[in-house]
Amino acid sequence: MAARKQLNIALLGHRFMGRAHSNAWRQVTKFFDPAAEPVLKVVCGRDAADLQAFASRWGWEETDTDWRRVVERPDIDIVDIGLPTYLHAETAIAAAQAGKHLFCEKPFSNTLAEAEAMLAAAESAGVVHYLNHNYRRCPAVVLARQIIDAGELGEIYHWRGAYQQSWLINPEHPIDWKLRKATAAAGPLWDLGSHAIDLAHFLVGDIVSLDCRMKNFITRRPLAEDPATQGEVEVECAALLTTEFANGALGTIETTRYATGRRNRHTFEIYGSKGALTWDMEDMNRLQFYSEADPAHARGFRDILATERCHDYVKNWWPPGHIIGYEHPFVHAAADFLDAIAQGTGIQPDFREGVRIARVLEAALAADASGGRVSVGGELAS
Ligand SMILES: NC(=O)c1ccc[n+]([C@@H]2O[C@H](COP(=O)([O-])OP(=O)(O)OC[C@H]3O[C@@H](n4cnc5c(N)ncnc54)[C@H](O)[C@@H]3O)[C@@H](O)[C@H]2O)c1
Repeated sequence: MAARKQLNIALLGHRFMGRAHSNAWRQVTKFFDPAAEPVLKVVCGRDAADLQAFASRWGWEETDTDWRRVVERPDIDIVDIGLPTYLHAETAIAAAQAGKHLFCEKPFSNTLAEAEAMLAAAESAGVVHYLNHNYRRCPAVVLARQIIDAGELGEIYHWRGAYQQSWLINPEHPIDWKLRKATAAAGPLWDLGSHAIDLAHFLVGDIVSLDCRMKNFITRRPLAEDPATQGEVEVECAALLTTEFANGALGTIETTRYATGRRNRHTFEIYGSKGALTWDMEDMNRLQFYSEADPAHARGFRDILATERCHDYVKNWWPPGHIIGYEHPFVHAAADFLDAIAQGTGIQPDFREGVRIARVLEAALAADASGGRVSVGGELAS
């Protein structure tokens, strides 16, 4: 095989997503043949001692605690952003202006204005930009899209999406960046709802109007930086949306951190004139498919284990029936991102999708504040 171009990566953030992304860059050339090879050049975070231990474990060549210095380095090709949401816009725009390709975590930004500025910076720099809604790259979700594209659901009437977690039922869980407006913009609506909206856009199409109802349950908690002191929770605990899609479908999206017993339950149900689909992240290799085309006596939801050779991505891993897990779609994204750079193409979802999602998220905040129905305006010219 001809030598692949090497691309130097700077990873910003070294905790949860730092681990998931490091694993993806490490694994990608072991299981896929991307057209470029990632080099784990430098990892950036705030805590120097932890950062060094992290770099040694994952094989990052260098560490730095100053993201500005990192994104301006001439030897860096890719900036991979795994920082709290409030830092996405500043870092992505600086990196785009320095000509770096961008791999960015969700939620895309704190505001729609930031999202638009990030898109403008990436497009004017001509770099490849990717927004990591990783669930699109679960083989069962890809299969759902293929079934819809083949017309097997017919006209879609309903989307029922939910992203439910439970980590806030513990009243001692402290206030960290995810519970503050300035750093997270909102609560589960932003954090989990951005994923749910991305899948809704991917599988059904654009959301054009919505209602939103938010609720707070536990409003005071210990501060992460000073556990003896209680502070105010600044973001919602749960948000429920009813949505209307451009194709006429009606939907609901439920996001919460108070769904006792639900640790990371990201689900969708889609009902059409000819068939239906359901999926649950906690059983992510499986897709349930109901078809009106089946003989009447045998109709019912079939349980497809999306690990066959014909299913996307999964053939690069193990033989059929040998399931994959949470970390694998990150590897799939890394493979597609490296190909997009080497081949000069784009990758989905990109920053343009980030703006689309940000429009829906801001409309949801406006709908909750007004108590009424809000249009998701400003369709992007393609
Ligand atoms: N794709 C997914 O499913 C998924 C899952 C979890 C989190 N996320 C997203 O990933 C991003 C990071 O979340 P996380 O859970 O990994 O956060 P985290 O709190 O675990 O880690 C944040 C990292 O950012 C670093 N950091 C913070 N401020 C910094 C600064 N000023 N300069 C340099 N480094 C700084 C910290 O040192 C830490 O390494 C968020 O946008 C989050 O929404 C995505």
